[in-house]
Amino acid sequence: MTFGIDDLPVRDELRGKSPYGAPQLDVPVRLNTNENPYPLPDALVERIAERVREAARDLNRYPDRDAVELRTKLAEYLTNTCGHPLDVSSVWAANGSNEVIQQLLQTFGGPGRTAIGFEPSYSMHGLIARGTGTGWISGPRHEDFTIDLPAAQRAIAEHRPDVVFVTTPNNPTGNAVPAGTVLALYEAAQAARPSMVVVDEAYIEFSHGASLLPLLDGRPNLVVSRTMSKAFGAAGLRLGYLAAHPAVVDAVQLVRLPYHLSAVTQATALAALEYTDTLLKYVEQLKTERDRLVAELRAIGYEVTESDANFVQFGRFEDSHVTWRKILDRGVLVRDNGVPGWLRVTAGTPQENDAFLDAVREVKKEQNT
Ligand SMILES: Cc1ncc(COP(=O)(O)O)c(C=O)c1O
Repeated sequence: MTFGIDDLPVRDELRGKSPYGAPQLDVPVRLNTNENPYPLPDALVERIAERVREAARDLNRYPDRDAVELRTKLAEYLTNTCGHPLDVSSVWAANGSNEVIQQLLQTFGGPGRTAIGFEPSYSMHGLIARGTGTGWISGPRHEDFTIDLPAAQRAIAEHRPDVVFVTTPNNPTGNAVPAGTVLALYEAAQAARPSMVVVDEAYIEFSHGASLLPLLDGRPNLVVSRTMSKAFGAAGLRLGYLAAHPAVVDAVQLVRLPYHLSAVTQATALAALEYTDTLLKYVEQLKTERDRLVAELRAIGYEVTESDANFVQFGRFEDSHVTWRKILDRGVLVRDNGVPGWLRVTAGTPQENDAFLDAVREVKKEQNT
């Protein structure tokens, strides 16, 4: 017998658990992790190289601990795209929005505290809660995957969570949450404790609707988290950020590691932000492809959840894992998120989407015969 995890004195709540992660299989068409399929344009790659070269000269020094230039540019991006004026004091950045969420839970959750999310939703919210010793409460949704507001309000009143997660557009279902629902949840959360409400807008650039950033006005316990992994096509960069009242930015600094954001990361993100307009053009193409996937999947005879994201949830299957495998056998990797009866496909390039649609057409035919 070899020495393993179970022989180590790991925390009880981690025993028997598996690490998060979608299968990284080597297949021709990978549409399983909601990445942007378009590589960064050559001009941007050059600009990154330039900026990183400059930053490399100072790598003997620690980076700007407060990432002021980057946060200023992120605030400009949010102001320009959402029509809601923000400055550096309201924006905080970290290594992916997962780290932003971790810092929020370290600050506002932790042992003896709880967080709630409305499931199915982004499973890392619950996993990061566990990792930070925060109790996790699974809140309700309707059959059609919209948030069951009265039940959610009751759950908040009953459990009085310290942190409330709302993902819009939601992952893995794809649907956006109306502003009115978020406001009602915020009110419920303030009446119960008061607690922090974290709106995870990782996919907002793909939405038919607007960002909820304007709701930050007058709501100091509201946080909007964002990422450059999706719309900016920079998942490998690891850059997430939040917008909130400046007091929230001050609070998360109590838990951030000193110099958490490397000079190379800051330089790369700044270069990518210079190319915002170019990168957002890809987003428009992906939205068109997403809408095509929705229409074609429906035409083939699948049920599809309304999507405001760069992915589409489709079903229903007696056994989603069996169907997942059949699609994989045809060279296309989609995601089985464990939502019974449903699978999720990320919008890829038109060619990738064609390959996916051909595969599911065949699978449907086979299942009908
Ligand atoms: C809803 C949601 N939030 C946050 C993230 C994390 O993104 P990142 O850590 O790459 O910024 C993801 C990634 O898939 C996501 O789906």
